[in-house]
Amino acid sequence: MKYSAVILAAGKGVRMHSQMPKVLHRIAGKPMIWYVVKAVKEAGIDDITVVVGHGRELVEETLSGENLHFVVQEQQLGTGHALMQAQGSVNPDHTLVVLAGDTPLLEGKTIKKLLDFHRQQQVRAIVLSGLLPDPYGYGRIIRQADGGLERIVEEKDASPDEKKIAEINTGMYCFQAGAVFAALSRLDRSNVQGEYYLTDVLPILKNDGHQVAVLATDEIDQIHGINDRVQMAQAEAIIRQRHNRELMKNGVTVMAPETTFIDSSVKIGMDTVIYPFTIIEGETSIGQNCTIGPYTHINDSSIGNDVAIESSRVKEARISNHCNIGPFAYLRPEAELQDNVKVGDFVEIKKSIIGAGSKIPHLSYVGDAILGKQVNIGAGTITCNYDGKKKHRTILEDRVFIGSNTNLVAPVTIGEDSMTGAGSTITRDIPANTLAVERAEQRHIRKMRKSNPGE
Ligand code: UD1
Ligand code: CA
Repeated sequence: MKYSAVILAAGKGVRMHSQMPKVLHRIAGKPMIWYVVKAVKEAGIDDITVVVGHGRELVEETLSGENLHFVVQEQQLGTGHALMQAQGSVNPDHTLVVLAGDTPLLEGKTIKKLLDFHRQQQVRAIVLSGLLPDPYGYGRIIRQADGGLERIVEEKDASPDEKKIAEINTGMYCFQAGAVFAALSRLDRSNVQGEYYLTDVLPILKNDGHQVAVLATDEIDQIHGINDRVQMAQAEAIIRQRHNRELMKNGVTVMAPETTFIDSSVKIGMDTVIYPFTIIEGETSIGQNCTIGPYTHINDSSIGNDVAIESSRVKEARISNHCNIGPFAYLRPEAELQDNVKVGDFVEIKKSIIGAGSKIPHLSYVGDAILGKQVNIGAGTITCNYDGKKKHRTILEDRVFIGSNTNLVAPVTIGEDSMTGAGSTITRDIPANTLAVERAEQRHIRKMRKSNPGE
């Protein structure tokens, strides 16, 4: 059997009150619809069409690289109308899974159950339902006396009695593709919202004598549709919990999952310990045996093995193995630390390479610099990299020792094994093996005797 999927994602998401299309709002670092695509692929379906409309360029751009087909729904006339737009893109002989782009909690296993059920029951259409304690806002499943599906009624069209029904339409379906597209052409807009409801296709198929079934799921966490930012925050909590759990199952210690925020895209190696109050975002990878946090915020960085980072901010940086960072360090974009580097308290590093074994232990700013191996930077050292117009480079060769409170006025190069005296302002290059001191002689001036007020 060949499978296809259509994801409906043309709607604006009015209830989000946002400029951005709803399906692009991010949950644990990834757009909502990304999770739906991931679930479909996990279920083994790779022929995927996305129906786009609102903000379509942005949606297509965000999902480029996922190998999807896009079809456009110019006017958002309802979910049934949205699926109609995909007719040319789906093989009529295929089994078709239809999903909404706003159900990010869905996982591959639930789609697989839908497909298995379709295979066993040999029916034309299946709708996935679920029992929700608070069904408000969802379409309700109206069953016949014999338990079979009669129809689905939307919240806005439902009578007070129908609103009491707790069994809801998840908006996830499995169809025989040819049959559903044939039936879609017969939808009308006779409902409160004046829309073509996809849900109305089920009674049409039934009246034509086709088998239509309801599959009830008890995995309530999988089915929530996100219509506003409150529901989005609830989904975020669930997705983060799942990712934390997966990390823990793979050998990462997350000491306090409830205070730890790790994006879905983050990879972490075995025996790494994440201390409380830590945020790790974006395309970040962390190796084995690290200790991260407490109070550390990292995004889009790569971190090797055996690295310790305490109470620090790390932003688009690259850190090799056995480095020791913080507390209170700030690594900015293009900071690159090679093996065994120490970066201590109140040190800021930007766009600089710090060679293996080098140390910047306290109170320094290092920007646009290249440090060789085993360089030692004394407390309070500043690279003066900016002249008001341009940024300039500082080069410190292997084993350079910078005395405390040195100003390195770039562009400047210090040759290997050289030193600067504490408090020097270095404006000229220093050759290798040289001590440079730039300091006025210390003078001692005798204080005047205080005059006696009685005199
Ligand atoms: C829909 C179902 C409802 C179900 C709920 C599950 C219908 C009529 N109702 O309601 O029974 O309980 O999902 O979450 O199907 N979309 C388009 N084009 C449109 C309209 C919508 O692409 O013209 C897309 C939206 O972008 C969204 C999805 O379809 O991703 C669902 O639309 P939405 O407006 O959220 O439907 P609900 O009111 O939640
Ligand atoms: Ca919805």
